[in-house]
Amino acid sequence: MMFESHSVEDTKLIARNFAKNLRAGDVVGLSGDLGAGKTQFVSGFCEAFDLQKGYHVSSPTYMYRHTYQGRLQIEHLDLYRIPSQEVLENLALDECFSHTSIVLVEWYQKFPSWISKNAFTVAISALGEGRRQIDIGPEQLLRDRTSTSTA
Ligand SMILES: Nc1ncnc2c1ncn2[C@@H]1O[C@H](COP(=O)(O)OP(=O)(O)OP(=O)(O)O)[C@@H](O)[C@H]1O
Ligand SMILES: [Mg+2]
Repeated sequence: MMFESHSVEDTKLIARNFAKNLRAGDVVGLSGDLGAGKTQFVSGFCEAFDLQKGYHVSSPTYMYRHTYQGRLQIEHLDLYRIPSQEVLENLALDECFSHTSIVLVEWYQKFPSWISKNAFTVAISALGEGRRQIDIGPEQLLRDRTSTSTA
């Protein structure tokens, strides 16, 4: 599904609405250039899960992983600074995949086979000053979810 965002607030709203269809065990891979809005998207996404006091979304670029507690545990990863598959495996980040949390992975496209084949994907691209195109997929997985959540 394609969305057009005209502001950070738009991006967060799109993310929050998407988040309502997700549940524990889900994985989301986010792609897009530096500054596209992936972290802003994660921030809006987490609003749907009412993070507890003291938890704020920020970029895990240097830490690789941030964990937030809300109605569910949310794991926020950023693979940008990970140089190789070997380093990625040594960091044991895959221990964060669990049936009780939701995992969002920025820069997953560096190691596309590392995340589940059943992951949702969010591709963000800049259209110009303040405008972004946000493409959420895959269509089939989204359709399955939206039809069960309204049933
Ligand atoms: N419509 C928009 N949606 C999201 N961010 C926007 C939008 N318009 C402008 N911005 C700006 O773009 C930047 C997005 O930053 P953000 O940290 O979310 O990017 P990112 O994709 O996570 O980058 P990185 O790859 O470095 O992690 C922010 O400075 C934000 O204010
Ligand atoms: Mg980021």
